[in-house]
Amino acid sequence: MSPIPLIIDTDPGVDDAVAIMLALASPEVELRAVTTVFGNVPLDRTTANAGRVLALCGRSDVPVAAGAARPLVHPQRERAESWHGGDGLGGRAATLPAPAAEPDPRGAVALMADVLRAATEPVTIAPIGPLTNVALLLAVHPELVPRIGRIVVMGGSLGGGNTGAGFGGVAEFNALCDPEAAHRVLTQSEVPVTLVPLDLTLRCPAGPDWLDGLAAAGPRCAALAQVIAHYRAAYRARYGVDAVALHDAVAVLEAVLPGSLTTTSTPIAVACDLGPARGATVAVPDGPPVHVALDADTGAVLAEVLARLGMVDGLG
Ligand code: BDR
Ligand code: CA
Repeated sequence: MSPIPLIIDTDPGVDDAVAIMLALASPEVELRAVTTVFGNVPLDRTTANAGRVLALCGRSDVPVAAGAARPLVHPQRERAESWHGGDGLGGRAATLPAPAAEPDPRGAVALMADVLRAATEPVTIAPIGPLTNVALLLAVHPELVPRIGRIVVMGGSLGGGNTGAGFGGVAEFNALCDPEAAHRVLTQSEVPVTLVPLDLTLRCPAGPDWLDGLAAAGPRCAALAQVIAHYRAAYRARYGVDAVALHDAVAVLEAVLPGSLTTTSTPIAVACDLGPARGATVAVPDGPPVHVALDADTGAVLAEVLARLGMVDGLG
């Protein structure tokens, strides 16, 4: 079987970096493009970070294009430097190889469109940051939407969120960054959507054994482990545990190995008012069903991610 063409839309981001490396180490997919969006840190940094992660893995042949620098309608409410560091890669961005090339001049939406046009198989899109670029793609290129096989989103939460003062808000970070875009993507009916929310990703904490295994898996994995160190300290400070949630990698595992996670189908709406619930993802009675990943064999998920990352050091 030929590999599934994959586009990752991302805001690296520590767990985004893990997710990109996971995709590169997965033979079931062919990463055709990495498109970037504002989010954890500003767009210029997320774009450079995507290029650095690809360069670390010797895959500078994968094009990187920058997309939205801000949300569709209202300004971004918060960033996530406290988790990801000011440079987005835990203060370690400059220790990774520089991007091999300038970002693709087509920009994110045009690059995604070109990948879709050129593909002979349905393309999976894995958005692991704010959904701005993907909402724009759906709006600008309706003729290409049938070429998207599946959208696998990291975002949302049916329980508590991870935003707001003291992280006590109801919204998940990616959804809060651009609720209008998230609503557009999650309520369309043309492309099947799998949503991988906090409810599950927080149940997959990578602890000391996992992190030691990563650090020992080879030089690229050791560099990734260094990138994770600041994120690990932030988790320790906030939750008092020595373990990190690799949100985006859990979603990308589902994108590369469909069925890794157990889903429940329900229509979802995103709160787009300007009140305290802004960005909340809510199960609603009517609308196209979204496959919400609420369960998994979490030990198997973590083991699979680590085993695959271990292969990244064997890539050319
Ligand atoms: C999401 O927010 C970002 O900080 C992470 O990279 C992940 O995509 C988790 O809420
Ligand atoms: Ca992310």
